[in-house]
Amino acid sequence: MNTDNANLQFYPSEQISSAILSWFDQHGRKNLPWQFERSAYRVWLSEVMLQQTQVATVIPYFERFTERFPKVEDLAAADIDEVLHLWTGLGYYARARNLHKCAQRVCEQYQGKFPAEVDALADLPGIGRSTAGAILSISQNRYAPILDGNVKRFLARLHCIPGWPGTTRVQKQLWQLAEHYTPETRCADYTQAVMDLGAIVCTRRNPLCDQCPLEPFCAAKRTASQHDFPAPKPKKERPVRSVKLYILQNKQGEIFLEQRPATGIWGGLWSLPEKERLQQLFPHEQPEDYLLHGKLTHQFSHFTLQAEIYQNTLTDINLLQDGQSCWYNPNQPDEIGLPGPIHKLLHSDQFLNQLF
Ligand code: ADE
Repeated sequence: MNTDNANLQFYPSEQISSAILSWFDQHGRKNLPWQFERSAYRVWLSEVMLQQTQVATVIPYFERFTERFPKVEDLAAADIDEVLHLWTGLGYYARARNLHKCAQRVCEQYQGKFPAEVDALADLPGIGRSTAGAILSISQNRYAPILDGNVKRFLARLHCIPGWPGTTRVQKQLWQLAEHYTPETRCADYTQAVMDLGAIVCTRRNPLCDQCPLEPFCAAKRTASQHDFPAPKPKKERPVRSVKLYILQNKQGEIFLEQRPATGIWGGLWSLPEKERLQQLFPHEQPEDYLLHGKLTHQFSHFTLQAEIYQNTLTDINLLQDGQSCWYNPNQPDEIGLPGPIHKLLHSDQFLNQLF
């Protein structure tokens, strides 16, 4: 199969799309919560949640969000703290902040109606070209190709496209293939079908080629090179960032939390103070004397965070007057957004058992 862009060869589009759609009719997912009442709002919400997160994890979040915010106007009017609170545990919190901004833009700029053009949708916060395609095709059954991770994988294998899909050259080839194979009819089903095919059959580690409707066409299968496509991202060492975090507890067993700056890691979320901040806030404290409570490692996309967590009980500390600190009671938690690992730590049995 050709690899050069100029020589990219295509199968007849109908042959591929009808094989995929027949497979979908038998094996595709048809009862996901966002497949009912397919408004652009519900499809958008599900697609943003599903970026980088598995379906099973997303379902309860989607249900809580749509119950609390049935319409885009409800989400736009909400306090960002409440949005972040409901997002706690889904990770990639920039998505939640963009979600909120996007809802506000849709209300201000488009009177609460999501635009019906890929370019206008992709111009909104947190919506890329592929998510825009998914929203349009699923909610309106319109021709709008997608190219998410699942689609990149089956197309790269179908045609043995070399190179990492993060590069412009490979992206361009994959978009050409996606545009070619996306049919003009059954657009919503086709979008769901290609996502399902990638998630269920053409999986990253153990593709189930004998169950694949594209097996007769697949160049990677023919050459037993499924594992070589798509090529992985070239490895770069992820740097380690070390921090010390402090659990300061008052006599009631409440924990001192501060809201982090809006930008940067865990932006806008409520977290434990780091050492420098502790020393600014409480210059008379001796953090060196605190007990080590434990260690925490968390992978961010660009670095690994290694935190040592220290703990102490303070008799005499006051909250700041700027509304950016609070006493947090893990047994009766306020509705504020905590980073997943900090939430997990403060709500672990081990931690709760030693609170007063
Ligand atoms: N991943 C992204 N969008 C999805 C969808 N609509 N269904 C299943 N998995 C998805």
